[in-house]
Amino acid sequence: MNLTQRQQSHLFFTWSAQDRAKTLEITDASRARFEVAGKGWVWDLESQVYNVNVGHKHPHVQARMIEQIGALPAAAPNAVLEIRATLGDLLAEHTQMAKAFLTTGGSEAVENAIKIARLATGRSKIIARKNSYHGATLAVLEIAGDPRKQPFVANMRAPLHIEDPHPARAPTAARASDWLESLHELVAREGAQTIAAILLEGFTGTNGMQHPPADFWPGVRALCDAHGILLIDDEIFSGFGRTGRWFARDRWGVKVDMMTIGKGLTSGYAPLAGVMVSAALAERFDQEVLWCGLTHYAHPVSCAAAVGSLEVLASEQLPENAERVGQVFERRFATMIERHACVTGQRGFGLMRALELDRGADEIVAQAWELGVFLPARGPMIWVCPPLCLREDEAETIADLLEAAIVAAA
Ligand SMILES: Cc1ncc(COP(=O)(O)O)c(C=O)c1O
Repeated sequence: MNLTQRQQSHLFFTWSAQDRAKTLEITDASRARFEVAGKGWVWDLESQVYNVNVGHKHPHVQARMIEQIGALPAAAPNAVLEIRATLGDLLAEHTQMAKAFLTTGGSEAVENAIKIARLATGRSKIIARKNSYHGATLAVLEIAGDPRKQPFVANMRAPLHIEDPHPARAPTAARASDWLESLHELVAREGAQTIAAILLEGFTGTNGMQHPPADFWPGVRALCDAHGILLIDDEIFSGFGRTGRWFARDRWGVKVDMMTIGKGLTSGYAPLAGVMVSAALAERFDQEVLWCGLTHYAHPVSCAAAVGSLEVLASEQLPENAERVGQVFERRFATMIERHACVTGQRGFGLMRALELDRGADEIVAQAWELGVFLPARGPMIWVCPPLCLREDEAETIADLLEAAIVAAA
């Protein structure tokens, strides 16, 4: 029995029939690459699950975690610890929001944001985008539109969805964009006074990486202000430098009432996510009970991983690096669109990018793997989301390999 078979005997793989699971035996990793048994080193264009933002095996994050394991590896949720206070300070500094409720994963973070929205407004409805993903638990599957909800849909309430027009009509002085108009219509139809929150990804991930029209974020903010609806920005995928800004929404300069964070918060070194809330919302719970709690709340070792990761993001200026290295891909992809008929477009910001094809991506993914590139894809879209420590010369190398894979697959 090899290692894969041994593991498969007693542990499930995710999101697949167990006999068809795509598995990799990873033996080592460093910065933007990992090593696979029997194959060697490959470029990690998925950053594992879009979360290893600082890169693999960063010594500073490892040291922070080891230090905390030695000092105190377990503590009750309300225990007061230096590492928890330090993380709070760093989160407030980088998010410009008042307080965090911490969770073990992103789905739980979105669930808690919804609970807080319901507690604060006394309303129940949540609006999301049709092409969106907010996690795998039942409550968030019901609200979002990602196809992974399909087996459960029959027993779910109908979601309230903003449709994605393809392509989106840009706003003019006289008329809002399609996206914003469809949201106004939905809110009017449902009754604004029944809606607790509008939940949007800072920048949509594997559901399309579509650039929102310029009036979208400011228009949603104005709509929420007019009707006492809370605005929740889900930055679990797009946060912590991935799009070339600390948070994707920073590009539109809009403030929100809550922001969910995860993935890059610890760069995947330990499980941790959370909900950041505005000062106004935080103050409510000085007197009212916050009906939220978890056994592994603010786990000390996870907090240490987050502190280490945030320190590296800031000291190595990784959001700025993602912006710079992303421009290398943007330039190289523009050339590929000119040269290869099967490459039809590109989308994205920083190191959260997609190449659009005129066909399914399977053959290119297979060729890239032969050339040492691990490439995530869905349908006719290829995702390019490497760790944010990638250098410009490494981006050129990866672009060369991608182009070779495209030629080989043609
Ligand atoms: C935007 C967004 N929200 C929420 C989640 C759920 O996070 P988790 O898988 O940690 O539960 C994800 C995960 O991919 C995500 O991309």
